[in-house]
Amino acid sequence: MPDPQLVLAARVQAALGAAFGPSYADADPVIRPSSFADLQANVALPLAKKLGRKPRDVADEIVAHLDTADVVADVQVSGPGFINLTLSDGWIAAAAQRALTDERLDVPLVDKPHKVVVEYSSPNVAKEMHVGHLRTTIVGDALARILGFLGHEVIRDNHVGDWGTPFGMLIEHLLDLGEDAAARGDSSVSDLTEFYQAARRKFDGDEAFADRSRRRVVALQAGDAETLRLWNVLVDVSKRYFNAVYGQLGVTLSDADIKGESFYNDLLEPTVRELEEKGIAVVSEGALCAFPPGFTGREGEPLPVIIRKSDGGYNYSTTDLATIRYRVDTEHVDRMVYVVGTTQALHFQMVFAVARMAGWLNDDVRAEHAQIGNVLGTDGKLLRTRAGGTVKLSELLDEAVERAGAVFDEIQHDQPYDDATRAAIVRDVAMGAVKYADLSVARDSEYVFDLDRMISFHGKTGPYLQYAVARIRSIFRKGGLTPEQAAGPIVLGHPAERALALELLGFGAVVQQAGETTEPHRLASYIYAVADAYTTFHENCPVLKAPDEQTKASRLALCAATLRTLVTGLDLLGVPTPERM
Ligand code: ARG
Repeated sequence: MPDPQLVLAARVQAALGAAFGPSYADADPVIRPSSFADLQANVALPLAKKLGRKPRDVADEIVAHLDTADVVADVQVSGPGFINLTLSDGWIAAAAQRALTDERLDVPLVDKPHKVVVEYSSPNVAKEMHVGHLRTTIVGDALARILGFLGHEVIRDNHVGDWGTPFGMLIEHLLDLGEDAAARGDSSVSDLTEFYQAARRKFDGDEAFADRSRRRVVALQAGDAETLRLWNVLVDVSKRYFNAVYGQLGVTLSDADIKGESFYNDLLEPTVRELEEKGIAVVSEGALCAFPPGFTGREGEPLPVIIRKSDGGYNYSTTDLATIRYRVDTEHVDRMVYVVGTTQALHFQMVFAVARMAGWLNDDVRAEHAQIGNVLGTDGKLLRTRAGGTVKLSELLDEAVERAGAVFDEIQHDQPYDDATRAAIVRDVAMGAVKYADLSVARDSEYVFDLDRMISFHGKTGPYLQYAVARIRSIFRKGGLTPEQAAGPIVLGHPAERALALELLGFGAVVQQAGETTEPHRLASYIYAVADAYTTFHENCPVLKAPDEQTKASRLALCAATLRTLVTGLDLLGVPTPERM
């Protein structure tokens, strides 16, 4: 899909080269949407300074050299030297037509595909998933889909917290309850919060239990077979729970994507050895530390990344360093995207800095922390239950389904659906609502988790967009043809048709940007803009009752192109689109 902005940028650059010499041909033409024309180039003003000429003269000279053929219908110099560009209807129509007939909506695959690890969700074993994990799951899944669509090789990676000292007490507690409690699905085990807290209480109050737990940690780390078997029982209980949540959300993570902290256990020692050999890890106050340059504490003292504690134990940072080393040496990735909360920003900055010192990360292999902001309750504070505990994800999602059902029944009182169909639609609406609300906010901003606002059929919501899709599908059902049969040709008459077609052409560039910046909210906003342009079109341009057959064919083709753009875009966000609503 030719992004009009890019096409015009190339033309303006060619004009710059022709007017002022080849050294100007790669200046940024600064082309932006404008309310005066389709697009505006703001290049004459900055250039005028360099050339020592009047900005308007520079603008006139660019225009004189501009090749407008096929693409530009009108060009005007305005104000101090802005260049206003109006695209030709024929070019827009032809580009929309190409998108319609191309299975990728004419979105090109990237020239240089990367091997990208997208690390997301990453909940902790034997602990409840919380709303923070909800967001890393939803955003990470969207990023994995987007990068995959662009043609990158994506490795989904669920870095679950499945290792460390708490597992001693958790295993002992499991033994006390009896393994068959886990097999039966007894709530004393499957209610993870309850299970964890009960173990903690015993650990704090019962010396003998605490002793057993500590011995169990030693056995676990030594790889004792029976201990590992018990550990696996716990991991399985949690996996079952994670998968239930993933299934509910419709995210693309599977067991095969789990590479938890335990996976790197055997790699910790060689990683540490390499850091020592390279002179990066040094002993400080009994612990083995790295001091990445530029990180200092309040008093200006260098801040350490602790690699091995004075008791010989490794920690969270060590695992993350071993992970980077593994991804570089074994998986040969070019890019790592960490979809993790903003609260861990300093941790990642320091770990990445140490990895650069070690040469694992460099200009060719980059690591990025895609920061995720907090989820707040309607009171503006971190989302908590009334009792003050963390909110359980599965319960939150159940509540979303319940509310979506109520809202749906209200707007669809004489719905023709049987129970199963209704339930499927309601589930899609609920998950679409939760996901779109999450994705439409910049990922590093906080947002308020407000089911009432999310599950509304008005405004910038998932259900509104799903409804827009269902409405277009119903036009095709009424018209007795499938969207695939709408072949056009697209001809633009009414301004609402032109505005819609122009909006559709922005899809490829937005997806590309969302992948590059790891910011799915750009795509979320774009999809809303498409739905908005479609609504104006729908209100002004009758489709099935169009004045003549040619207009009808063109409008049906516009509907089909819109439908595919919305469905593809929403699918990249992981938002389902029910056939009917
Ligand atoms: N399990 C961690 C948590 O729940 C998140 C892990 C993030 N990823 C990482 N490579 N450290 O907070």
